[in-house]
Amino acid sequence: MLKKVLLWFVGIVLVAVAGLWLFWPKEYTVKGPMLDFLTGRQAQTPDAGMVESRFHLPPGFRIGIFATDVPHARMMRITGAGDLLVSSMREGNVILLHRDEDGDGKADGRTVLLTGLNVPHGLALYGEYLYVAETDRVVRAPFNAAARTVGAIESVFEGLPAGGNHRTRTIGFGPDGWLYVTVGSSCNVCIETEAYRASMLRMRSDGSDAETFAVGLRNTVGFDWQPGTGALFGTDNGRDLLGDDTPNCELNRIEAGGDYGWPVAYDDRVPDPDFGAGQGARIAASRGPAHGFGAHRAPLGMRFLNAGREPAGYEGAALVALHGSWNRSSLAGYKVVSLHFGADGQIEERDFLTGFEKDEDVIGRPVDVQQGPDGAIYVSDDYAGVIYRIGWGDMAVGDMAADRAPVADPLAGLDTAEKTRLVLEGAVLFSENGCAACHVAGQMPEGGAGKLLKDLKARYDIAGIESLLIAPPGPMPSFDLTAEERRALAVYVLATY
Ligand code: HEC
Repeated sequence: MLKKVLLWFVGIVLVAVAGLWLFWPKEYTVKGPMLDFLTGRQAQTPDAGMVESRFHLPPGFRIGIFATDVPHARMMRITGAGDLLVSSMREGNVILLHRDEDGDGKADGRTVLLTGLNVPHGLALYGEYLYVAETDRVVRAPFNAAARTVGAIESVFEGLPAGGNHRTRTIGFGPDGWLYVTVGSSCNVCIETEAYRASMLRMRSDGSDAETFAVGLRNTVGFDWQPGTGALFGTDNGRDLLGDDTPNCELNRIEAGGDYGWPVAYDDRVPDPDFGAGQGARIAASRGPAHGFGAHRAPLGMRFLNAGREPAGYEGAALVALHGSWNRSSLAGYKVVSLHFGADGQIEERDFLTGFEKDEDVIGRPVDVQQGPDGAIYVSDDYAGVIYRIGWGDMAVGDMAADRAPVADPLAGLDTAEKTRLVLEGAVLFSENGCAACHVAGQMPEGGAGKLLKDLKARYDIAGIESLLIAPPGPMPSFDLTAEERRALAVYVLATY
């Protein structure tokens, strides 16, 4: 009897699985890195061989790794000193990667500038301040680019709707000195009830006089002003669940008072099947995109090249990071494209950096693009936690295989008494936290997750180890440590290994 029931049960499960498999609607496809957390797959830090074999750029450009161990690297800005600011929304911090002075194409060190933020994403520099967009507010802190220090954080604007499907907020100062802020929709497609959802707003640099600037923008994550014309362009992510090829992700020319259609229309004023009915007047008055990227490409950060040192054919071009699809039966996006603005107003899209995805194997997802004062292009990748640097001509780009030029003794700045004290404190913490079990020969268990600590001085300074302890790499667990304890541990491991 029991056997019969079991057989029936197994039969019913098999039929149900087969039915789901055959009749699962294509619009509900979930594919790509979204599945990683189910399958337990971990993104690997690409090595030199992978960078060389996978990535492809137009002739003349070269790519290298500028920095690794930047978990969930999102938006970037170049400081007045030529360093690179990077936000990490999941780690809740903003870090500063020091400019390459020794000419190996890699960051020379790092400083963790801000921690404990609530989904920090957009970054902007204006006057004496570093501005950061958290999910529910914009904050700023006095920032000294040369000294690489920040002062106390103060709130600039508190009225952003928190959370929802789209939690990232992007900020940027326009040529007019106003602070522009984008807020995505709370949902895939719906009628919003909260202020500022699916729109761009702007305010003065102190947060006063906030006003809605443009609406109907489902999720504009990147925007920039075109040099010369001052026109504002922004990327926008199209809605999901309408199949593999509908609707386009967009580039919009964003103008004051403009309505870009969401949720009542997509593409060039095509009525939305869920919310377009009876919205004829709004749809007719809405604006179509300046350019369509194709569906599910997920365009995020964009930047006009403007260092005055562009290779031929790239003057005035914009680079856009396509983060890549999840709701599509074959993966699309996963690359950086260049947009070329013709005199006739036509925009031509060309592949710039490809290879993040190959035969459905994903090694990275580009998020933002920035250009340094020397012209070099930086691309952040929140999947592998890597910042890439792209150069041409005689510009140095990093190579994972090449050893870094030896740095000066990172402990040289400490006097003997302080160094001794920190080393002793650090030794105690090292033992109390069980660091040796993963790091010291003889104490690492067979087959355990660990790495022999050696030659640390050649690769890290104190700040480098401190930030590693805040956001530990790969399988290393995170520890509940105070800033003073992190400093002591850093000095101890640098002095010992
Ligand atoms: C469960 C094992 C584990 C523990 C415990 C652990 N780590 Fe790690 N740690 C690792 C692994 C694995 C790596 C290498 C990760 C990688 O390269 O992707 C690493 C990397 C490091 C590095 C960088 C090494 C290099 O060569 O670049 C330092 C420094 C470090 N750990 C310090 C510490 C300190 C200090 C502690 C104790 C507070 C600690 N770790 C505890 C697993 C551990």
